[in-house]
Amino acid sequence: MSRPSCPDGPRLCWDACGMKLHGPLTVASGPLTSKLSLLKKAAEACAGAASLKLTFITPPFHAEMRSFSVHDHVILSPTEKRLALHEGVELCRSAKRETALAIWANFTGAGADEWFRLSEAFIDAGADGLELNFCCPNLDTSSSGPGVRHGAAICTSPELTAKIVRDVRRRFTQIPVMPKIVNNTHLFRDVAAAAADAGAPAVHVVGQPVSGAPPVNPDTLKPLLPFAEGVSFGSTNGSVCLCNTLRSVAEVRSAAPALQVMASGGITRWEDCVSAYAYGADAAAVCSAVMWHGWERLKIISRGLEDYFRRKGMSGPEAVRDTALKLLTPPSELKLNPARARIDENACVGCGKCAKVGHCEAITLVDRKARVDETACISCGVCRSLCPADAILYDDDPRYGSGK
Ligand SMILES: Cc1cc2nc3c(=O)[nH]c(=O)nc-3n(C[C@H](O)[C@H](O)[C@H](O)COP(=O)(O)O)c2cc1C
Ligand code: SF4
Ligand code: SF4
Repeated sequence: MSRPSCPDGPRLCWDACGMKLHGPLTVASGPLTSKLSLLKKAAEACAGAASLKLTFITPPFHAEMRSFSVHDHVILSPTEKRLALHEGVELCRSAKRETALAIWANFTGAGADEWFRLSEAFIDAGADGLELNFCCPNLDTSSSGPGVRHGAAICTSPELTAKIVRDVRRRFTQIPVMPKIVNNTHLFRDVAAAAADAGAPAVHVVGQPVSGAPPVNPDTLKPLLPFAEGVSFGSTNGSVCLCNTLRSVAEVRSAAPALQVMASGGITRWEDCVSAYAYGADAAAVCSAVMWHGWERLKIISRGLEDYFRRKGMSGPEAVRDTALKLLTPPSELKLNPARARIDENACVGCGKCAKVGHCEAITLVDRKARVDETACISCGVCRSLCPADAILYDDDPRYGSGK
C-alpha cells in the first residue's frame, strides 16, 4: 500500500512493543477515529497509528457527541457515540485493508468474558494492538448492573487493573496490550505499577482531570451544553490538560520505569511532544488539536518534530526522554534564582498590561515604556505571559543577559 509523503524519517518511528509506527503521532480514540473516511484522512496526514473509537460488546446506552468547546483551551464532552462490537470490528478490518495505519483497538468490558470476546474479535480483525480503556469517565455504570466497573472506574483500583491486564496478556500473548489510564485518584502510581507487574509493555497516559461541568449562561441559567436538555459531567480534553498530562507521565515513569508510555491530553504543538518526551513519554497522541484545527495540524506537529531533531542533531525522542524528569525536585528543595524580570525597551509597545498585574507593585509605565523596580519584583513568573510584544525577559531568555 502506498504511503503519503510524510516526514517519517527513522528518527520518528516508535518501536512500540514491537509495533513499528511510521510516524510520531497517534490519533487518539474519539470522534476522529470512528469512521473509515476519517481514518483515511489520518493516514494522509502522516499519523503513525490510530486508536479506534471506544467499542463495547453492546454500548450501555444511546449516545451522540455533545460538547462545550472553548477554542484552543478545552473540549468538555459528556457523551459521544460508541461503537458496538460488530461496528468496531468492521472498522478495524477496513482500516487495515485501506490504510497503512497501525491500529489500536480501544475497548472496555464488564467482566473477564467481555474483555476476552472483545480482544479475540479485534485480533481476528487485524488490530495491531489492544488499548484497554480504563479511562472513559462518561459511563453510567448502573446501566451495566450493580458492581460492574468499566472505563475510568477500573483505574481507581490497582487490583482490578492488574487482573484485567494479566488475564488479557495471558490469553493473547501474540499482541501488544496497552491500558489507557487516567490520573483520577491518589492510587494512580499504584495503578501504573500494577499494569507493569501484570505484564503490560506500555500504557497510554491521558492527563484528563476528573470530569468537569460546563459553565452556565447567566441570562438563561442554562449550562453551556448546546443541543441538549439538562447537563452531565463530562471528560475534559484539550490544551487545559497539558500540565496534568506531563505530571502523569512523570509519575508513571518514576513508578514503573520499565513501561513504555504514550501520552495524550493537551498535545497541540510539536513543543508539547518534546515536553512529554522530557518527562518520560515515548510517544504522543492527539485528539482535540485536530478537532479544532483540522488534519493539517497533525502534519505541522510531525514536521516540527522532524525539524527539531534534525536541528539538534538528535536521533529522536529517546535523546530527550527523562531530561525533565531528572530535574524533578520537591518544592521545599527547589533552588530559587534571585534574578528579576527585565524589560526589552526596544520591544515594549507601552500597552500597560503588565502594570495591571494584581499582586505586583514592581512595574510602572514611564514615557510609555514599562519599568521594573527590581527591589519590588518577586520573580513570580506571571507578567511575561500577558505581554503582547514579548518584551518581558526572564533568566531563561537568551536576551536576558545582554543588558537590554
Ligand atoms: C469527544 C471526545 C471523545 C473521546 N472518546 C474517546 C474514546 O472513545 N476512547 C478513549 O480512549 N478516549 C476518548 N477520548 C479521549 C482522547 O482519546 C484523548 O485521550 C483526550 O482527548 C486527550 O487528548 P487531547 O487533549 O489531544 O484531546 C475522547 C475525547 C474527546 C474530545
Ligand atoms: S456544523 Fe458545527 S455543530 Fe455541526 S457538526 Fe459541524 S462543527 Fe459540529
Ligand atoms: S505588557 Fe509588554 S508591551 Fe505592554 S507595557 Fe508591559 S512590557 Fe510593554
